[in-house]
Amino acid sequence: MEENIILELLEVNQQLLDCIAAADWDTYEKLCDPGLTCFEPEAMGQLVTGMAFHQFYFQLGGATEPYNTTMASPNVRFMGDVAVISYVRLNQRVDLDGVPTTRAIEETRVWQMQEGAWKHVHCHRSLAQS
Ligand code: GLY
Repeated sequence: MEENIILELLEVNQQLLDCIAAADWDTYEKLCDPGLTCFEPEAMGQLVTGMAFHQFYFQLGGATEPYNTTMASPNVRFMGDVAVISYVRLNQRVDLDGVPTTRAIEETRVWQMQEGAWKHVHCHRSLAQS
């Protein structure tokens, strides 16, 4: 039972990462609580609340070259209707010179079950030291 919920959460989190890479705003908006809070490098040390900050990046368009996004060693913890997932996100992309690159980002994302669907309510992202 718990295993199924873990798989479901990993799937929904992967869907979130994939829609970010594809700049698919409709899916991102559907998966997130409108009051999403976030610490991430782009926010320059500030806690950002709401969706507008994130929408800015979706307006720039998605990856045009082949890409892949991996959650490395994900850990999932449930606390009632809340789940916390932590992992290192590996972004495989092609840079402007056509060279394949990989970037590692430490991520913690918090999901809450709201009316039968997982909603993303908080994330904390930081660039991993190599
Ligand atoms: N910067 C948006 C997200 O990682 O959810």
